[in-house]
Amino acid sequence: MTAPRHDPERKIDLDLVRCTENAALAAWKWFGKGDKNRADFAATDAMRGMFSLIDCKGLVRIGEGRKDDAPGIFTDEKVGTWEEDAVPIAIAVDPIDGTTLTARGLPGAISVLAAASCDNSDDDPRDLFPTIPSHYMEKIAVGPRVNEGPGRIRLEATLEENLDIVALKLNKRVEDLVVVVLDRPRHEGIISTLRRCGCGVRLISDGDVAAAIAPSLPRSGVDLYVGIGGSPEAVLASAAIKCLGGQQLSRMWPKNEEEKRYLLEKEGCTQADLDRVWTVEEMALGDRVIFVATGISDSPMLNGIRYDGRHCVTESILIRARNRTVRRIETHHDISRKTIRFASSGAETRL
Ligand code: FBP
Repeated sequence: MTAPRHDPERKIDLDLVRCTENAALAAWKWFGKGDKNRADFAATDAMRGMFSLIDCKGLVRIGEGRKDDAPGIFTDEKVGTWEEDAVPIAIAVDPIDGTTLTARGLPGAISVLAAASCDNSDDDPRDLFPTIPSHYMEKIAVGPRVNEGPGRIRLEATLEENLDIVALKLNKRVEDLVVVVLDRPRHEGIISTLRRCGCGVRLISDGDVAAAIAPSLPRSGVDLYVGIGGSPEAVLASAAIKCLGGQQLSRMWPKNEEEKRYLLEKEGCTQADLDRVWTVEEMALGDRVIFVATGISDSPMLNGIRYDGRHCVTESILIRARNRTVRRIETHHDISRKTIRFASSGAETRL
């Protein structure tokens, strides 16, 4: 057995920030240009390009793209140099969460990834993130105060019961709670229940990674996230929420009988898999989990990209589960020198 490395994730954590920074910068070129596929392609290409320079053996456990045919980084893809001594990591990734927001020039878009490594460098990290097909999941997410002590939220409970728990733990009235929900017809029932209970409903058109993390961030102004969104987004948000001490419960949500059959027959899911409720601790196993995101446009979690004279300024967040350190990284990229390595060309390209 090989002796454990000293915090192997520390060797690569800043490089992972470079990955989301470069993806965000590449996406920015397409910000507000009405073309979500080109934005997504550019971000994916830049992220793959940056990964090709990172000394890791990266295996993508949950990627983006299958659910909506986007040009994503896919599940089971290998990224990194794969040199003999490189750090083995499992990866969950979404080069842009909020491709439509990016195309439409709207707030809330981020570039995001999570990585997990093993205590022992001989161990295989693939099981640190679950095998969940890229489809939809039901989710409910709360911050650390709601996740403490007896009386926890449950996905099986009614929304009213969960609201009572959140209000009690936060020492607020139910009508003073602010709840974020994706604005989708499938959420009509949730939205009308929340309104009947008097909650403030903050509807977002996309981007539920940042939305689910928001209750775990101080001063986000969000008490609860609830609704159905992507499963890669559920894994990504879980990694961050685990690092921050909050909770997200999620369960697969086939949108109709046909999709349920597909999951059971083609994706190798069992009925038990479909019924399983995942906690953040189960979604992102172990202590060596890192969450990284860079803002493309402003969100409750991160400032979006802005230009300041000859510099392009990005804001990123880097969180480690091991000691729950939250780093905010403001990077000033000199636009006369900054280059991005795109995987498709293998070339360094000016910003
Ligand atoms: P992408 O930017 O990766 O397309 O995801 C945007 C998003 O809003 C996610 O944040 C969310 O989980 C998912 O789409 C919801 O799916 P749908 O738009 O199909 O309702």
